Amino acid sequence: MSLIPAPVSCERQEGFFAITASTCVAAQGGAISEASKLIEVLEPAMGFRLGQVERPVDTDCIELKIDSSLRAGLGGEGYELTVSGRVVNLRAADSAGLFYGVQTLRQLLPAAACGKKKVEGIQWTVPCVRITDHPRFAWRGLLIDPARHFIPVSDVERYLDVMALHKFNRLQIHFTDDQGWRIEIKKYPRLTGIGAGMDFSALQAKDQTNGPKAGGFYTQDQIRHLVRYAAERHITIVPEIEMPAHTGAAIVSYPEIGLYPEKLNALPVEKRWRAHEGVLAPRPETVLFMQNVLTEVMDLFPGTHIHIGGDEANIDHWRKSAGMQALIRELKLKDEAELHSWFIRQMDAFLTSRGRQLVGWDEILQGGLAAGAVVMSWRGEEGGITAARAGHDVVMAPTSHTYFDYYQGPAEKEPKAIGGLIPLEKVYAYEPIPSALNADQARHVLGGQAQLWGEFIATQEHRMYMTYPRAAAMAEVLWSPKTSRSYDPFLKRLTDHLLRLKTTEVNYRPL
Ligand code: ACM
Repeated sequence: MSLIPAPVSCERQEGFFAITASTCVAAQGGAISEASKLIEVLEPAMGFRLGQVERPVDTDCIELKIDSSLRAGLGGEGYELTVSGRVVNLRAADSAGLFYGVQTLRQLLPAAACGKKKVEGIQWTVPCVRITDHPRFAWRGLLIDPARHFIPVSDVERYLDVMALHKFNRLQIHFTDDQGWRIEIKKYPRLTGIGAGMDFSALQAKDQTNGPKAGGFYTQDQIRHLVRYAAERHITIVPEIEMPAHTGAAIVSYPEIGLYPEKLNALPVEKRWRAHEGVLAPRPETVLFMQNVLTEVMDLFPGTHIHIGGDEANIDHWRKSAGMQALIRELKLKDEAELHSWFIRQMDAFLTSRGRQLVGWDEILQGGLAAGAVVMSWRGEEGGITAARAGHDVVMAPTSHTYFDYYQGPAEKEPKAIGGLIPLEKVYAYEPIPSALNADQARHVLGGQAQLWGEFIATQEHRMYMTYPRAAAMAEVLWSPKTSRSYDPFLKRLTDHLLRLKTTEVNYRPL
């Protein structure tokens, strides 16, 4: 058995359960939709469709059952899976737990069960086991970046499919940056009319990416589809709308929200990957503009968390601007750092009043943290530690261990990457709870997230190559008990797991 992420407890018992065309799947109430998904996911490889029934029978049956008494011990995402020679029993307090139990069941089957093509001459056996399982962390995330290279809807779907097999439950999508605005906003059509078609081909040519053209955007209908598609896999899409920096595409589309309208308006060709003077001018009109954007974003994304970026704002440009200096005096602020903080607070209050919660990169700590904010700690652990000590929730996403756009082997042997070196073993060694936190503070660590920034990643093959198997390691860091983490046994399980990825046609990096 090569389960990834490793479950909390797993006892192997004698014998096997065999799935055949006559096996039924029994479910009632809230379990019915999870039973349907199990039938759906097994059908392509097995070539038959299991019958779905209401009442379990005592042989040749897989029963999925919601049992709310399990909540106290296992939470909503945990499950108990018992496989005997005659029946499979899967129980959870919530449909999410049943879904994760199904992912485990898929991994107990031969690797071919994960494939999309019918496989002949195989016995679909599951070893008899008793598994009790629940995640260590509530936030188990990955980030993708269609702002730098647009990612077609079908590629996002495949990305979500593979995430689900690893029990990830958050996909942050970096929709906006200097190089592109990728989400339709009805009130401001130029954001995509102009901002989704930014020309940075010169930049791409220089940096080797010879993939498809970078431009494109998601319509609101496509977004609704992706949100639903993710939710069926118990994944919440966390939208990221960058502000007040990484906003070049928005400013080119609507120069009046920027500092230097004349200059940027004449500069529609993007020449840099790095954040630059395309920083918003946080006048009241700009605050309103971005809040209007967030109103449409909230309509599209039902999840609690809305990410507003907040990183790498070059506030030097506010220092040099007479208009921004006047604004600082008018708002009775001390300096540019406080103006940054004031701007984030406007967004925080706006989101909070609508029942949502702001998430931002750790720069939102400068000049004072907004009351309801969740901090995503990327420049190391410090931001997360400071925020958790101040009673704020945090998600750990440090460049040291979780930047999947970094090299995973010697640079001369790898496709060009942004820099750094984060091999598989380093990801596996990551501990999301900083040792500086006491137990009370540690409770604010919601979990962790790996970032796949898109500057150098133009195709799905490359995207998967950079993500796997490092994401398999990250999945275990975020799901499995800390006490059971051990690299060599993980590598042994991973060898089998890679066969699953191979049948799933994931272009992982070979070990
Ligand atoms: C970041 O990598 N600028 C969050």
